[in-house]
Amino acid sequence: MPIEIEQPAVELSKIAVSETHGEDSPYFAGWKAYDENPYDELCNPSGVIQMGLAENQVSFDMLEEYLEQNSEAASCGNKSSGFRDNALFQDYHGLQSFRKAMASFMEQIRGGRAKFNPDRVVLTAGATAANELLTFILADPGDALLVPTPYYPGFDRDLRWRTGVKIVPIHCDSSNNFQITPQALEAAYKKAESMNIKVRGVLITNPSNPLGATIHRSVLEQILDFVTQKNIHLVSDEIYSGSVFSPAEFVSIAEVLESRNYKDSERVHIVYSLSKDLGLPGFRVGTVYSYNDKVVTTARRMSSFTLISSQTQQLLASMLSDASFTENYIRENRERLRKRYGMIIEGLRKAGIQCLEGNAGLFCWMNLSSFLENPTWESELEIWGKIVSEVKLNISPGSSCHCSEPGWFRVCFANMSEKTLEVALQRIQDFIEQRKGN
Ligand SMILES: Cc1ncc(COP(=O)(O)O)c(C=O)c1O
Repeated sequence: MPIEIEQPAVELSKIAVSETHGEDSPYFAGWKAYDENPYDELCNPSGVIQMGLAENQVSFDMLEEYLEQNSEAASCGNKSSGFRDNALFQDYHGLQSFRKAMASFMEQIRGGRAKFNPDRVVLTAGATAANELLTFILADPGDALLVPTPYYPGFDRDLRWRTGVKIVPIHCDSSNNFQITPQALEAAYKKAESMNIKVRGVLITNPSNPLGATIHRSVLEQILDFVTQKNIHLVSDEIYSGSVFSPAEFVSIAEVLESRNYKDSERVHIVYSLSKDLGLPGFRVGTVYSYNDKVVTTARRMSSFTLISSQTQQLLASMLSDASFTENYIRENRERLRKRYGMIIEGLRKAGIQCLEGNAGLFCWMNLSSFLENPTWESELEIWGKIVSEVKLNISPGSSCHCSEPGWFRVCFANMSEKTLEVALQRIQDFIEQRKGN
């Protein structure tokens, strides 16, 4: 019998009782529905299929094969192969071999079009920690970061909750495929000013989550000009950079800086992690790459709170230094994601559903606006509730991504087998047929 402990009203800190973590949104409610009744082809074929999780499981076989063939990389070392060194290593600079390997992996993913200096790589426990850590460094409580909508729901937690920093949305809409415009940037800045909020920076995700699309070079140029003119920072979360189906379609902010001879680069910071491109969110491996010396030094100090274990660093240093493995992995992983994307787009098209044209990511941005009873947030939640409870698919409603138009949904396709994806698509097709009938 578990011991029942009475919970009298002992006061906790403001952060502990704050609601700014955002975990009460439908994004997380859908996860609960999945957890309570998860789909399994054999044991629970009528369960909820999880399409709300941007996980990449399509290339696990290549990682497993590498580990099988390089078992010494996976071992934590015996007496002769450095167990003791590994057990004692806690330097917040991280293993030099790993920082080197990360920098060269980041270059490889960008087709060699950008250079990264290992001395500027700060290691963190995932992009979650990297984004929070940067926010702590760039802004004070009450200040704001401008973030284009729709955005990754986790930003409400990562950028706001513990830092006390605000997010002011840059409203983007479907009239131009949710692209960021100079007018939208200026409007968000003015909005913050009108509320007496100091803007410290702009945070973009490229390729975007939830749109699954890359940001065009000309738009990056405009954003860079904007932050320079306002004398604020630019954070580019490039966690999905390895998932761009055709590598030439991705332009990193690092390339734009290189083409400008690094002018104004001291205000630019890149966030990256291996959670998506290698499908290793459980390993908690991320990085802040900053062109600002002071930010690098401070981020490194702060990373004490969020280090990557030495064993993980050692394993990945060895894997990422194997150029023939990484080359093959990057190419094959892109190809598999592109194939999956084609599958889901085609299945949705058959059901009469359009998606935003994407070229990257582990999800598509699905437009159900024409199936809503009314163009309202209530109608979006109504159809979303039916999709979770009747169709048994957990997808993320646009409102949880702060989208400015009702009817859009993020649908993940890389965290399941092709067979499960087919089941999910059949369910959506049946649902739409039925809805049309009604
Ligand atoms: C845009 C974006 N940033 C950060 C994260 C968090 O990644 P990590 O698992 O590396 O903390 C995610 C995860 O979904 C994401 O989509």
